[in-house]
Amino acid sequence: MIKQSTIDQVLSAVQLEEIIGEYVSLKKAGANYKGLSPFKQEKTPSFVVSPAKQCWYDFSMGKGGNIFTFLKEIEHFSFPEAIKFLAKKYGIEVEEDQEELSSEQIAARDEKEQLFKIHEIAARWFHQQMMETEEGKSIALGYFLQRGITLESVTKFQLGFGTEMWDGLYKHLTQLGFSDPILEKSGLVYFSGEKGTDSYSGKDRFRERIMFPILSYSGRVLGFGGRIMKNNVPVAKYINSPESPIYHKSDVLFGIAQARSSITKNDVCYLTEGYMDVIAMHQTGITNTVSSSGTALSVAQIQLIKRLTRNVSILFDGDEAGIKASFRSIDLLLEEAMNVRVLLFPDGHDPDSFVREKSSEEVLEFISSHQMDFIDFKTQILLQDKADDPLERGKCIQDILSSIAKVPSALQRELFVQKTARTFNLAEENIFKELAQKIALPSPSATKKHNKAPKMDIVEKRPRVEHLLVLENALVELLLKYSSKNIHIIEEDGNELNSTLGEEILDHLEEWEYQPIVEMNHLIFKEAKECNKENKSFESWLYGEMIDAEIAQKLASINITKYELSNWEQYQIHIHGEEEKSEENVFEVINRHKRELILKRINTIKERFKDSEIPEEEKKTIMKLIKLKITIDKDMHRVH
Ligand code: UTP
Ligand code: MN
Repeated sequence: MIKQSTIDQVLSAVQLEEIIGEYVSLKKAGANYKGLSPFKQEKTPSFVVSPAKQCWYDFSMGKGGNIFTFLKEIEHFSFPEAIKFLAKKYGIEVEEDQEELSSEQIAARDEKEQLFKIHEIAARWFHQQMMETEEGKSIALGYFLQRGITLESVTKFQLGFGTEMWDGLYKHLTQLGFSDPILEKSGLVYFSGEKGTDSYSGKDRFRERIMFPILSYSGRVLGFGGRIMKNNVPVAKYINSPESPIYHKSDVLFGIAQARSSITKNDVCYLTEGYMDVIAMHQTGITNTVSSSGTALSVAQIQLIKRLTRNVSILFDGDEAGIKASFRSIDLLLEEAMNVRVLLFPDGHDPDSFVREKSSEEVLEFISSHQMDFIDFKTQILLQDKADDPLERGKCIQDILSSIAKVPSALQRELFVQKTARTFNLAEENIFKELAQKIALPSPSATKKHNKAPKMDIVEKRPRVEHLLVLENALVELLLKYSSKNIHIIEEDGNELNSTLGEEILDHLEEWEYQPIVEMNHLIFKEAKECNKENKSFESWLYGEMIDAEIAQKLASINITKYELSNWEQYQIHIHGEEEKSEENVFEVINRHKRELILKRINTIKERFKDSEIPEEEKKTIMKLIKLKITIDKDMHRVH
């Protein structure tokens, strides 16, 4: 852990324009600086840095943020990496809390360091065996070249070869001083024979196999996949390193280190099944490709991708196993709020065989014209030649709905329901009812996960979700822009009250126990509340150590773009956009938000008792709500 004092020192020393200026040639433009986007090829500058707000915005990408998000985009630095990098630049000494580590923790850290070293050496050794020995050149390198893999790819992926020798690698590593226990832990060596006798010896796990190093996000070798070259031998075609303190197979993606900058640049990640698929795609020039290599896609793997993009295209074999795997992956990706597309390759092809001898343009053209969203994909697969059978159609809709039920965003679910209704030519209301049932049933994956199961009440109230969302976003914008602005209120009895714009918004949310629709808004409200409680300035958190990429992006976009009037006016919310008016605006937005909440509550009650008499108690509640709405309507009238 880096000490807070170091972080504070770094934050007060950093000049955003100075750091960015090392990557982008910046020119002064009014209060801001402008330059060419470092993320995209462009001719006219669309990259803006605000020294006053210490944030940046790239109009060509629609992305922005603070110093940490910039370094993350461009260098793929984590927060501690960024702090260390900046500290070095400004000559600040990084102090870390060491005392917190117990002796076991220190031993574990040292053990990991040794395992990283062992894997680095092993990758180099396998590579040398292939490139420099006769056996390697003729058997392994020959195999790759004959499959159309270029030397460039062999180098890029550090491919290698485990020879016929029983203990070549074991001996090499032993000579370098690594002990038997750590070598056994690495999984690269196993021991057989009786301990304490001569028969006891270390043996290489990967023999007569071509080797694919599996790298971490930041490019360290964590483990290997090894493919047998002989056909018709009764052993697994691929074996992987066993789990070790540094290798957890469901936490890694083959190709992520080589693909990550291309994934950000193209804002999409292609997900394939195998090692050879990744290499073939990269070789064709489609470098934003990774694979989960033989394991079912996991949440941890999706989160690796999510750091880089929200868009995933699944490129799987069109065989039954491929389809099955894609169904599982789709649901998991939807659950993680990713945008999913699916493409199955024609008869017997996998990406590797398909892209051979095709240009990247041809492949990309094929992908973009053949990939589908999951609704079309499931419809096509499940209804192949049974499109007229009502029973099959029903089953297919149910299947699609279980996927939609996984989507955390209410708005997104609504859009998918609309599409399903169109596809099957049914009323949206009916599909909503079915969906509501599915969401009410706790699915096994929804219960184990971090409480992200979609809530019923958001689904029920269809038509006005959008209004609520727009108002929620308006409240967030006001909070981000003017939270500390003082507000002076004279109450009806003449009492004078002083508060801030931020407090007014937070009080309102609390009063209504409002559950934000958008996850990011939830985080922003929560943090603002926390700051308020601890008497800390929300703004100094926002512009200081806040590292949430989405919030940073939002902040940059509202600070650097013009206030977006058009979007709000569409909903008859007249925002004047000037700081002087922010006080009036905040009460107008709060009132409108209240009004929507009232309508929603009334509706929820009516829905609940739609087949029976509404109980007295609930009737009273409705009356109260209606009265409140009338007061608000009057109030709002006075403002105009
Ligand atoms: P494939 O059998 O499709 O292999 O398995 P491939 O990648 O196309 O390889 P080539 O073209 O035969 O050389 C797809 C993926 O499933 C995993 C591997 O990650 C493989 O890349 N797999 C396959 C295993 O882990 N073990 C196996 O025995 C087979
Ligand atoms: Mn293949």
